[in-house]
Amino acid sequence: MVRERTEPLISREEIEARIAEIAEEITRDYGDRDLVMVGVLKGAFVFLADLARQVELPLEIDFVAVSSYGMDTESSGVVKIVKDLDLEIAGKDVLLVEDIVDTGLTLKYLSGMLRDRGPASVEICTLLNKPDARKVDIDVKYCGFNVPPRFVVGFGLDYAERYRQLPYVGVLEDKEGSDGTG
Ligand code: IMP
Ligand code: MG
Repeated sequence: MVRERTEPLISREEIEARIAEIAEEITRDYGDRDLVMVGVLKGAFVFLADLARQVELPLEIDFVAVSSYGMDTESSGVVKIVKDLDLEIAGKDVLLVEDIVDTGLTLKYLSGMLRDRGPASVEICTLLNKPDARKVDIDVKYCGFNVPPRFVVGFGLDYAERYRQLPYVGVLEDKEGSDGTG
């Protein structure tokens, strides 16, 4: 059973409470704006679903999919767009929603790419942040939790496509810490 191999780090209740806080901030900050929430697939799907349902604003939702890690946890540093946006974002306020910011390479690339399309703004909202693993500087506007440089799974995050459905965030027990090495 998957649970036996993960050590809980952030409980379902803690995540729920934090998402409610972030949703309130977003509702306040984007009150008079034209908000598009862009989830980065696949990892962000759980967080985005919970978050968006608590933001009390008219908003649009879209997704991008990138590949950089493949089936392993090691960052190649190369980000490839596997699925682009369906929506036009020119003049709109884009909020990129991620599961975790690790090296920062994915969001550095993605936010740059989206900025070239003439949006009013591009900001980043992530459930988890690994500040110790950062390789490039990026501004994170909303962050759920800082986590230590260890490999975490659950709440959308996977290891080799598994564990995404766990309702909490856990540390995968036999994985070493992440400094870009996963
Ligand atoms: P970055 O480009 O290094 O910031 O990588 C971001 C992506 O790497 C995330 O969206 C995740 O898909 C993946 N990733 C980084 N750290 C972890 C982790 O601890 N567990 C699961 N996925 C991770
Ligand atoms: Mg991801």
